[in-house]
Amino acid sequence: MNAKDVIIACDFSSKEATLEFLDKFKEEKPFVKIGMELYYAAGNDIVREIKRRGHKIFLDLKLHDIPNTVKKAMRVLSDLDVDMTNVHASGTIEMMRAAIEGLTRPDGSRPLLIAVTQLTSTSEEAMRNQLLVDATINDCIAKYAQNAKEAGLDGVVCSPLEAGLVKEACGNDFMTVTPGIRFADSSKDDQVRITTPERAREIGSDYIVVGRPITAAEDPVAAYRKCVKEFLNK
Ligand code: C5P
Repeated sequence: MNAKDVIIACDFSSKEATLEFLDKFKEEKPFVKIGMELYYAAGNDIVREIKRRGHKIFLDLKLHDIPNTVKKAMRVLSDLDVDMTNVHASGTIEMMRAAIEGLTRPDGSRPLLIAVTQLTSTSEEAMRNQLLVDATINDCIAKYAQNAKEAGLDGVVCSPLEAGLVKEACGNDFMTVTPGIRFADSSKDDQVRITTPERAREIGSDYIVVGRPITAAEDPVAAYRKCVKEFLNK
């Protein structure tokens, strides 16, 4: 049985704004996601500071390069002691294997490694006309997830609406980490294929990634608690 948790997407543009947000949490230490914007702005400094404060970290940098480069980059990231990171599955099984090799520390431990299958912003039409991929988007997601599993990865990032498909293709133990979460009564923002925390649990998400419904809430701590309550059913 996989661990289940709510991950807050800390899509802030500076270290100060991020820490000011995290300071609001006095009782909980939420799992946080650091994406490209914050990482490129604040670098390893913010990763170390958030870790020092006792949070788990998903470093969402979506690596995609030749296997040797990804392996060496992952070696550097594994020293940062994050809890989860990711690559693009389209980099091939060989690249994903190299990522695991780079991420694995001398004592055999490593952060969780998950793969992006097809970005939720990629349509079937774009796949066909621009990428020249003739498969349906669902077949593509299932195959990329199977490739990730074959390479030894722990799971994939996908839309909550695709979590069932991934579990069917790769088994229940293969993790699904799903953004695109909204409360039933909140704004969709720019997300299209969304679902509620409760529904995400029912479909089979292991981790939900939630940004603006928490970060832009009037009371972020209350919004986080509501999310945890709905997702973990407690
Ligand atoms: O604010 P919101 O809840 O929409 O944030 C979702 C987070 O998940 C953002 O950091 C976004 O970049 C990320 N994400 C996503 N869809 C994907 C992959 C990542 O929304 N397919």
